[in-house]
Amino acid sequence: MRTKFKREGGRGPDRPAKALKEFPPKEGGFAAGVPLAEIISHKLANAPELVVRDNSGSFIAEKFRRLKSLLSVEDGLNPQVIVVTSSAPGEGKSLVAINLALAFGASKDERTLVIDADLRRPTLYRWLSPSPNIGLAELISEQIDPKHAILHIKDTRLDILPAGKATEDPDQLLGSNRMRELLEQFRGRYKKIIIDTPPIVPFTDADIIAACSDGVLLIARSAKTPISLMRQAESLVQGAPILGIVINDQKRTLADWEGRYESYYKDYYDRDKK
Ligand SMILES: Nc1ncnc2c1ncn2[C@@H]1O[C@H](COP(=O)(O)OP(=O)(O)OP(=O)(O)O)[C@@H](O)[C@H]1O
Ligand SMILES: [Mg+2]
Repeated sequence: MRTKFKREGGRGPDRPAKALKEFPPKEGGFAAGVPLAEIISHKLANAPELVVRDNSGSFIAEKFRRLKSLLSVEDGLNPQVIVVTSSAPGEGKSLVAINLALAFGASKDERTLVIDADLRRPTLYRWLSPSPNIGLAELISEQIDPKHAILHIKDTRLDILPAGKATEDPDQLLGSNRMRELLEQFRGRYKKIIIDTPPIVPFTDADIIAACSDGVLLIARSAKTPISLMRQAESLVQGAPILGIVINDQKRTLADWEGRYESYYKDYYDRDKK
């Protein structure tokens, strides 16, 4: 039996399995270690999608800033180019990619670019107005100067390269020499580059770009992503190290979260007093 997101011609998951209800998962955990961040539902928190820009004082925005710090540890990998992917569609790759990029872009000295490399079903343009005419696909196939395609997200220091026209053969474009050249150019101009990609279980695109990146961030959607599928995604990341996992869309209420953190800090400080 195939899960419902199997797409024609893609790599299907082996079998449906237990969804990711536990944090961290009890049955063996992930090869990539303890999840780096838990992002709660922006809907439950009554926050907008671009929460880091539009509600920067919120608990969720703080989670993205924390994720940014974890990914910036100077003596760690300190990746400059980060690929964001997940096992299946709709797990929050684009939402995490843009908010993480906004968190990086908030520092004055961190010129940040977010690239929509989901050339199958581009979505980052949903945060741009007016909708862009050209993007990554045209930069690769038509040798256009990047300055004609890179846009700026209003009220931020973040640049964005939209995907451009959806194409049938994205793996060929993404695996081309021109794509590698473009990324090299961007490495010279931006301190951080976040790349949004299609899901890695059905498609190879994310792993193709990973080969030109410094690391891959895997997104899992709480209570939806089967653990076995997440493991399959992990095993398909070959091009670069896995930086960690983000558990997205946790459905606990904000009050549960705040209570949990409050008791954690209380325990911590009480321990110091003893
Ligand atoms: N933390 C969250 N809280 C609430 N809704 C969320 C959260 N993360 C994602 N969503 C919602 O889920 C939907 C899918 O999110 P998104 O487009 O980021 O997923 P995706 O993995 O990029 O999907 P695709 O594989 O189609 O590109 C959107 O409507 C988004 O608002
Ligand atoms: Mg997406």
